[in-house]
Amino acid sequence: MTIFRGTFIDIPENPFTGGVLRVDSDAGLLVEDGTIVARGPFLDIRRAHPAEPVVDLTGGVVLPGFVDSHVHFPQIRAVGGLGLPLLEWLDKYALPEEARMADAIYAAGVAKEFVRGLAAAGTTSALVFGAHYSDAMDALFGAASEVGLRITSGLVLSDRLLRPDLLTTPVRAYAESLALANRWHGTGRNRYAVTPRFSLSCTDELLATCGELMEAIPGALFTSHVNENKAEIATVADLFGGSDYVTTYERHGLVDRRTVLAHNVHPTDVELKLLGVNGASVAHCPTSNAALGSGLFPLHRHLQYGVRVALGSDVGAGAGFSLLKEGLQAYFCQQLLADQGRPLTGTHLLYLATTAGAEALNLPQVGHLSPGQAFDAQLIRPAEDSPLAIGINHAEDYEEAVARIFTLGTTTDVQAVWINGDLLTT
Ligand code: GUN
Ligand code: ZN
Repeated sequence: MTIFRGTFIDIPENPFTGGVLRVDSDAGLLVEDGTIVARGPFLDIRRAHPAEPVVDLTGGVVLPGFVDSHVHFPQIRAVGGLGLPLLEWLDKYALPEEARMADAIYAAGVAKEFVRGLAAAGTTSALVFGAHYSDAMDALFGAASEVGLRITSGLVLSDRLLRPDLLTTPVRAYAESLALANRWHGTGRNRYAVTPRFSLSCTDELLATCGELMEAIPGALFTSHVNENKAEIATVADLFGGSDYVTTYERHGLVDRRTVLAHNVHPTDVELKLLGVNGASVAHCPTSNAALGSGLFPLHRHLQYGVRVALGSDVGAGAGFSLLKEGLQAYFCQQLLADQGRPLTGTHLLYLATTAGAEALNLPQVGHLSPGQAFDAQLIRPAEDSPLAIGINHAEDYEEAVARIFTLGTTTDVQAVWINGDLLTT
C-alpha cells in the first residue's frame, strides 16, 4: 500500500444538479493495488498505517485524471489547420493525414505520439476516434497498453462520399471490427467502440451493420458525430429523406446509454429529447467548434432535456490535448451565448473534464478520488512565480483556485500522472 499526501480536489456529484467541489487539503489517500481504500486527514491515515511509504505531493494540487470523451488518434499531426469549415477542413487537412495511416509503420509512430500526448495533458481515459485501417488500430491499442491508458476505440467506418482509399463495405466493416474487438475489447484497459465516421459518409446498410456489431460486442460503446455544421446537417437530411440527424442513428438502435455523439451544436428539440430519454451522451468539443466556426454549443438546452454532456478535445480540429483549454473555451462559449448561455464556474469545468466523462464512457471506477475508485490522478504543480502559481497562491478559496487552473493552466503544469496507482513515465 502507498499513502499519497497532498491537496486533493474533485467533484463526485453533478454540480448542475447540486453537487459541490470537494477539497481535502493536507489529506492522505491510501492506495492498494491501484484502488483508493481510504481518504482523510493525512495524520489520521498516517497513524492508522505507520509503516506504509508516503508519496509527498504537497505544494501542488491533485486532480482526478481527465477523461477525454472525443479525440481523433490519426489527426495529431493535422492540428492547427485553421480557416476552413468542417467539410472543407476534412478534405484539406484531416482526411489526407488519415489516408497515411494505411502505412502500418507510419501509424505506429503516430500512435506513440498520440498516447504520450494524452498522458502528458493529464488525460488518463479517452474515447478515441480511431483510424480507417485495422493495422493502425492494432498500433493504437498496443501503444495505449504500453502506457496503461484507459482507451475505448474502434475502426472508423465509411462507405460513401469520402476519398476512395478510406471506404469499406458493410461486410468488410463487420468482419474487421469484430476481429479487432476480439483482440482488444477487455484486453488490459482497452475497450471497443463501434465507430461510423458520421451519417454523411455511411449508408443505411452500414449503420445497420453497426447495430449488429453492438449486439455482437457486449460492453462496447457506440460513437460518431452529429449536428456539427449546417452544411453537413443539410447533406445528411438530403441523404436520409429529410430525417433528422439523431434519428439516422436511432433507427438502427444506436442511441442509448452506450452512445457518445460528438458536437451536437445545432440540435432540434426533438433530437435533444430523444438523446435525453435514451440516456445518450454528447461530447462537447469547444475549441473545435470555434476553430471550424461550427457554432456555439447550446449547453442549457442539453441540460433542460437531461442529456449527459462531457468534454472532448477533438484533436485535430481541436486546439490540442489539454482539457484545461477545452474547459476554458467551454466557459467562453457560454459567455458568448449571453442570456442563452449557462454560466459556468471552475467546479463545472472540473466536473465536465472528469466525472462527466467517466459517466459518458461508462467507467464508474474513475472520474473522482473516492475510496473504491481507481487512483487515476494528476499533480498540477506550476513553476514557482509562474502566473498560475501566483494565481493559485492568491486565490480566495479552492473554487477560485480551480477556475485559475482552467484559465492559466497548460500541459506544462501537469507534473505527474498516475493510472491505477502507477506513475507514468512517458
Ligand atoms: N465529422 C466527421 N469526421 C470528423 C472529424 O474528423 N472531425 C470533426 N470535427 N468532425 C467530423
Ligand atoms: Zn471528431
